[in-house]
Amino acid sequence: MTEKIERKINQLKEKLNKWNNDYYVLNQPSVDDLEFDSTMKELIDLETQYPQFKTPDSPTQKVGGSVENIFTKHKHKYQMLSLANAFNFDDLEAFDTKIKKELEEKPYSYFVEPKIDGLSISLIYENGKLVKGVTRGDGIVGEDVTNNIFTIKSIPKTINNNDKYFEVRGEVYLSKKEFDKINAKKFENGEMLFANPRNAASGTLRQLDSEIVKKRNLDIWTYFLMNKEHIETHEESLKFLNDLGFQINPLSKHCQNINNVKEQIGYLNEIRDSLEYEIDGIVIKVNEFEYYDILGNTSKFPKWAIAYKFPAEIKETKLLDIFPTVGRTGRITYNAKLKPVKLAGSNVKAATLHNSYFIRDKDIRIGSTVKIKKAGDIIPEVLDSIKDTNYESLPIWTESNLCPSCQNKLERFEGEVDQYCVNIECPRKIIRSLEHFASRDAMNIEGLSIKIIEKLFANKYIVKISDIYKLTNFKNELIMLDKFGEKSVNNLLKSVERSKTNLFEKLIFGLGIRHIGKKTAYIIAKNFKNIDNIINANFEDLSKIRDVGPIVAKSIKDWFEIDQNINLINDLKSLNINMNFSGTDVIENNNITSKNFVITGTLSKPRNHFKDLLAKYGANISESVSKNTDYVLAGEEAGSKLEKAKKLNVKILSETELEKLIKEENND
Ligand code: IVH
Repeated sequence: MTEKIERKINQLKEKLNKWNNDYYVLNQPSVDDLEFDSTMKELIDLETQYPQFKTPDSPTQKVGGSVENIFTKHKHKYQMLSLANAFNFDDLEAFDTKIKKELEEKPYSYFVEPKIDGLSISLIYENGKLVKGVTRGDGIVGEDVTNNIFTIKSIPKTINNNDKYFEVRGEVYLSKKEFDKINAKKFENGEMLFANPRNAASGTLRQLDSEIVKKRNLDIWTYFLMNKEHIETHEESLKFLNDLGFQINPLSKHCQNINNVKEQIGYLNEIRDSLEYEIDGIVIKVNEFEYYDILGNTSKFPKWAIAYKFPAEIKETKLLDIFPTVGRTGRITYNAKLKPVKLAGSNVKAATLHNSYFIRDKDIRIGSTVKIKKAGDIIPEVLDSIKDTNYESLPIWTESNLCPSCQNKLERFEGEVDQYCVNIECPRKIIRSLEHFASRDAMNIEGLSIKIIEKLFANKYIVKISDIYKLTNFKNELIMLDKFGEKSVNNLLKSVERSKTNLFEKLIFGLGIRHIGKKTAYIIAKNFKNIDNIINANFEDLSKIRDVGPIVAKSIKDWFEIDQNINLINDLKSLNINMNFSGTDVIENNNITSKNFVITGTLSKPRNHFKDLLAKYGANISESVSKNTDYVLAGEEAGSKLEKAKKLNVKILSETELEKLIKEENND
């Protein structure tokens, strides 16, 4: 009998561990929360009844997880930029016009390639040997997936090139055939399927077990050479790479002008479905390398390239149900549950229906056929429903009156389309507002993702904002709860602690007051300087501030009139959260004000110190060096930005030179 119980417990553990891995590591949930929770409950019950089988590594002893720390981080030598998008030929024309203008009529041409729907990778060779494969990550720091990269047959492991450092970039992808094969196997095993080849490729490359990766037959198209010193055009660089053994996409083509580019786009669009791999657009690059520095980069994109995205696909499917969800402000969004349909490479089961007036005005009914598309290729949305013969017999939809989370009665403010849950204790609202508070533009608490918040909320470690700052009292309990143990708890607590000294305007934004976006939060912080001045301000004080106005003023007044909110502020005060505006009005300095700065390398103080200092004097700070850069502040081990600054003759400053420059002006 107990043997049977032990077997059952092991089965449940295995299931839950796998689901956790799917969720936290592969970023691909394989069951819904309900199934996860009920399986977890079953295991908890059995372990309580038979404690002899309860082990410290049981999923009941851990909460959540973190993708961090799984792969070693690698700082890219050269930032991995992304691409700006063009959605139609007008956007392409505008791109071409800008280039023409920047190049002042110098002759240029384009190189056109399919935009492979996979994930970008940087391959590093030293003295002809492959030494590293790194994912893009945030463009600055990626994940070291070298072991997995070594399993990809089409990546050369040695090359006939003796450069000490040689870097190539490309897109790792899964062919449609391999993708179908993997999913067929998953289906056989009763596992959740991958949504599209890109997710499958990404999930595979970020697998810890290289043996699994090997079986998955990932492939690569290489599309960029970083060591291009002796090469003049992109076309030549691809030829050079091809000769070294790298796979170059055969549909890549040199085009003399933007009209030829359009023709090639038309051709690729036509053959798109017949390709063995998914493409989501076309990449257009200026062919001549001599122009790359002139054209420069923004902080995210090179200005010498653009991605033409194919128009969004529209599909029809059956609307199975309409369900509301509640956001942090209490606003209700209606969502469609759909008969799964393949759309732009993924399997779509749900889409937004916006608000109840949208559904009412379009007379969308449950059971009808709806048209859906992906907005900006990310969130699917319902466009309309088809009024066919079956449609008439379907019941007209009516909006919900109760909050889907707390069942409180919903309200609609005068003149507004949306319904709101105004219950301050609504659990979903609290979870969403905690998420907002921790988000990057607010208190920037890394590691406090929505999933972690949900777990901490369910376990009652965080039920309101100020509890975040009390997590440190439960460190041991959290370590027991957290799948990744001490290290991730320590990291979380560190970022919680760090956030205490965050800028005051970020705190105001994080409070989630209606109508207070990032910019308004800054204006309020700057004008009132500290929290007490805001609390004590009357409606007139608030509304007379430029850019604030009566709606925002009322919203602030209303928020601070609620007792719980005042209690929150008092709690945060006693927890030493910064509530003072630290910025000052810009100090005019002819050497610094409005000048363009780039900061690079390791400095004696954190980079933010120098950013704040320069901001005080009204400098513009950007991430990448271009001909518009006035100064580069360079610390130790500065890499590509310093090199580029030298190439472009941009003035390079050390910390002391910067100090001198500031003082020189201030003393005048
Ligand atoms: S060039 C600085 N070429 O698209 C040059 N990217 O949306 C950057 N991609 O991050 C990339 N096919 O992952 C380039 N032929 C191609 C590409 C390509 C796919 C991906 C790449 C990039 C993303 C930008």
